[in-house]
Amino acid sequence: MANRLENKIAIITGGGGGIGSAAGKIFCEEGARVALVDQNPEAVAAAVADIRARVPGADVRAYVADLSIESEAGRVVAEIVAAFGGIDVLANNAGIRRYEAVADAPWETWDAIVKVNLLSYVSMTRAALPYLRASGRGAIVNTSSAYGLYPRKGMGAYDATKAAILSLTRTLACEEVEHGIRVNAVCPGFTVTPFHVQRLGAEVIAGMHPPCLMGRWGAAVEVAWPMLWLASNEASYVTGTTIMIDGGLPI
Ligand SMILES: NC(=O)c1ccc[n+]([C@@H]2O[C@H](COP(=O)([O-])OP(=O)(O)OC[C@H]3O[C@@H](n4cnc5c(N)ncnc54)[C@H](O)[C@@H]3O)[C@@H](O)[C@H]2O)c1
Repeated sequence: MANRLENKIAIITGGGGGIGSAAGKIFCEEGARVALVDQNPEAVAAAVADIRARVPGADVRAYVADLSIESEAGRVVAEIVAAFGGIDVLANNAGIRRYEAVADAPWETWDAIVKVNLLSYVSMTRAALPYLRASGRGAIVNTSSAYGLYPRKGMGAYDATKAAILSLTRTLACEEVEHGIRVNAVCPGFTVTPFHVQRLGAEVIAGMHPPCLMGRWGAAVEVAWPMLWLASNEASYVTGTTIMIDGGLPI
C-alpha cells in the first residue's frame, strides 16, 4: 500500500518527539506533504533530516513554536499555509508529563500541562479550521492516552488533560461534520520513545512488562499507523471515535 495520503498536507505537533516523528515518516511515505511543529528546534530539525534521508523525495519541513502560547498557533499555521498552500490533516500530538500525585502537584504543574496537552490542541485546531474546512476532506487526529480512560495513580494532571482531549474530540466531531471534517483520537499505551528511553534506560524498558494483554511496550510506529489510517480517506466513515493502541490494557 502506498500513497494513502497522496495530495494531502499534514501538520503534526510534537513532530520532534517519538510518536510525532514516526507519524511524520510514514505520512511522507504515503505521499503527504508534512509540517512538523515542535518547541525543540534540535529535535524537530533532526526528525526532518532523518525523514528526508529515509524517504526519498519527502516534502517535510520543520517549524519551531512553543504551543503553550496561544498566539504561536496562528503564527505557525499561517507560515505553514504560506509554504504548503493549505491544510488537510491536523495531528495534535504535542505533550508533556509530570509524575506527581494530585496531593503534591502544584498549580504550576496544572497550568503548564493544561496549556500544552489541552489548550494547544484547541489553539491549533482553531487556527487550522478555516483551511481544514476549505479542504473538504479535513481530518483531525488527537493524541490522547489510554490513561485518559483507565485509572492509575501518580499522573493526575496529565491524565485529566488526556480525558479532556477525548471530550474535545467528540464535540469537534459534532460541530465540524457539516464542514466535512472528521475528528478522532488515538489512545496510546506504553510506547517506547526517546523520552522514556532517557527516563528509564533501554534495559529497564526491555525488562518491563506493562499490564496489557501483549505484555510488551509498543513502538512509536505502531501508534503512527492508526494515526495515518484515521487521517486517510480509508477512514471516511469514522468520526468522533477513539482507537485504543495499548496492546490490550485491561485496566
Ligand atoms: N510514549 C507513550 O508511552 C505515550 C503514551 C500515551 C500517550 N502519549 C502521548 O503521545 C504524544 C507524543 O508523545 P511521545 O511519547 O512521542 O513524547 P515525546 O516527549 O517524545 O514528544 C512530545 C513532543 O512534544 C513537544 N512539545 C512539548 N511541549 C511543547 C510545546 N509547548 N510546544 C510545542 N511542542 C511541544 C516536545 O518537544 C516533544 O518533541 C504526547 O501527547 C503523549 O502524551 C505517549
